[in-house]
Amino acid sequence: MEYKIPNHVAIIMDGNGRWAQKRGLKRTKGHQKGAEALKKISEYAYDKKIKVLSVFAFSTENWKRDKEEVDFLMNLFLKAFKENFEAVKKKGVKVIFSGVKDKLSEQVIDSMEKMMQETKNNTNGIFNICLNYGGQDEIINATKKISKDVKEGIIDCNDINPDLFNKYLFNDLPPIDLLIRTSGEYRISNFMLWQMAYAELYFTDTLWPDFDEKQMDKAIEAYNNRDRRFGGVKK
Ligand code: FPP
Repeated sequence: MEYKIPNHVAIIMDGNGRWAQKRGLKRTKGHQKGAEALKKISEYAYDKKIKVLSVFAFSTENWKRDKEEVDFLMNLFLKAFKENFEAVKKKGVKVIFSGVKDKLSEQVIDSMEKMMQETKNNTNGIFNICLNYGGQDEIINATKKISKDVKEGIIDCNDINPDLFNKYLFNDLPPIDLLIRTSGEYRISNFMLWQMAYAELYFTDTLWPDFDEKQMDKAIEAYNNRDRRFGGVKK
């Protein structure tokens, strides 16, 4: 049987805090290690010819964490956008962001815009970073924009279908084929709800900072053992 590489892989990078606590370290150390893991995995994913990689960097709920942790994460993003993603850029990958700008500092927004601008013509892959992101928020936001366009006569209500709806989301992305969540939690946590409709779900007990190339291979192998029918019947 042909070995399939999923076109769109999404990752909920969970367990940074527990990774650090297990070692008697501050939670922030776990995030730092998590950023290193992401750098490795993103490069590996594009080498494997995965076309779209979406990662959950910061949810709209994560603002509830201690200010120290939130500040640390924001600085980590700034640092990673400057340094780590040079490698992804070199691979010819386009970087995009999903989420809302409110509450993000000007510095973070500027850095996001710079990344998008510098990579906008790249065609080897897409790196979708979900930052200040919520799945229900994304659907509501799209619905509001569609309602406005219907009201203004730009589109007809009868023309609303999944393809059209997709175009109103933060980014017009292909459906997720494989969702990976680390750290032994079996939840979707408001992540890319629309895009996940037919995704294969892969859960592992490995904490995100320990998730390496071997673990990624295991996830792709599990994906290959799934029987995807999209609601149909196997012929
Ligand atoms: C969840 O682990 C992780 C996060 C909220 C942050 C994810 C961020 C990174 C992996 C850093 C790098 C990201 C980019 C885009 C450079 P948790 O803190 O909820 O872990 P816990 O459940 O063990 O407490």
